[in-house]
Amino acid sequence: MIKTAVMGYGTIGSGVTEILAENRDVIAAQAGQEIELKYVLDLREFPDSPIADKVIHEFKLIEEDPEIQIVVETMGGLNPAYPFVKACLMAGKHVVTSNKALVAAHGTELLAIARKKKVNFFFEASVGGGIPIIRPLYHCLMGERIEEITGILNGTTNYILTKMDKEGDTFENALREAQNLGYAERNPEADVEGYDTCRKIAILTAMAAGKEVDYQDIYTEGITKITDVDFKYAEKMGISIKLFGTSRIRDGKVSAYVAPVMINSSHPLYGVRDVFNGIMVRGNMLGVSMFYGSGAGKLPTASAVIADIIEAAQNLKKNVPMGWGDEKQTIEPMENMRFRYFVRLAGSFRNKEQDIRRIFGHTEVIELYGMDEFAVLTPEMEEGAFRQAVAAYDALAEAHSDFGIKQTIRAMM
Ligand code: HSE
Repeated sequence: MIKTAVMGYGTIGSGVTEILAENRDVIAAQAGQEIELKYVLDLREFPDSPIADKVIHEFKLIEEDPEIQIVVETMGGLNPAYPFVKACLMAGKHVVTSNKALVAAHGTELLAIARKKKVNFFFEASVGGGIPIIRPLYHCLMGERIEEITGILNGTTNYILTKMDKEGDTFENALREAQNLGYAERNPEADVEGYDTCRKIAILTAMAAGKEVDYQDIYTEGITKITDVDFKYAEKMGISIKLFGTSRIRDGKVSAYVAPVMINSSHPLYGVRDVFNGIMVRGNMLGVSMFYGSGAGKLPTASAVIADIIEAAQNLKKNVPMGWGDEKQTIEPMENMRFRYFVRLAGSFRNKEQDIRRIFGHTEVIELYGMDEFAVLTPEMEEGAFRQAVAAYDALAEAHSDFGIKQTIRAMM
């Protein structure tokens, strides 16, 4: 029998204890022996719950208990998750986490300690909730050169964008619903400003490149500036707006970003709606492969944690090669990425056609009935060139009151 401890009895932690009890026999069959929950570490008491008699408040009890071989970290955040996880690995215990902030900030060090101590540091649940994506990268796709990973990696923002798109819901209402359903981070700014997606694409990029990726090097833009008017244009154009986390690896150069992107129905991620996540992986031999499923929520995410517990149980005496090494990966500047751009402008197209074509090139025009504005879709260009074009147009706007730029969104179509 293997004894385990869960640190943090929140949404995911309580899901883990629930599955450990509910699927006890399935888990034992896969792990080769029973997995018993010995402790639940939390600041609170849970007198009416099935784990009431296992609740402890002292981390040392876990760290110093030789019976505990696998520790599950579902506290979230860096403090005290980081010192606790590090101490567990140093004590020769396997650690399984759902905490993307921890993996993105300290993964390199924690993976190195796990290797040295011949234990495992697994984090399947940190990206894509219940979708298998980390394990496919180090098992099924281990013979591939990964060229691109593009994902809708945040359930909360995908839920919000879907509600705004399909039901005309306000941003605030949709966010409240996502929070009530247990999808959102404790501080939803992490979802809507793209920080959560940034950590997830940093982890996936590091997995693909085999090198450390600093999430702070990744250009990150959230969905807070997307409005109902953008969705009116999107409807007319028959396209969708999704928050993408993308990384591309070509000739050893890695680029990555997080931003809302307009895509049309031929894009493989077009149909990923509500809380679902979708991840497209392109390998040099494989071509495109798609991973789709529940990207957030209690049981889907806990299910991924359980799979990690089982893999740790199957490898109690050895470190499974996975993750990345100490070398740091350089990320190419965002200015070098190429997109088309959707630009909403004040006034009417007729007066500005010449200036727009001179500054943005040969654009497509989209007009909505009864609006004192219009939009254009630029040809594909480098981000740096687009920023210069926006600055040139802004200079004109200083001289003409109806020349303002109201919105810009990257587009891939
Ligand atoms: N807040 C995250 C999301 C939870 O909405 O996707 C899963 O990481």
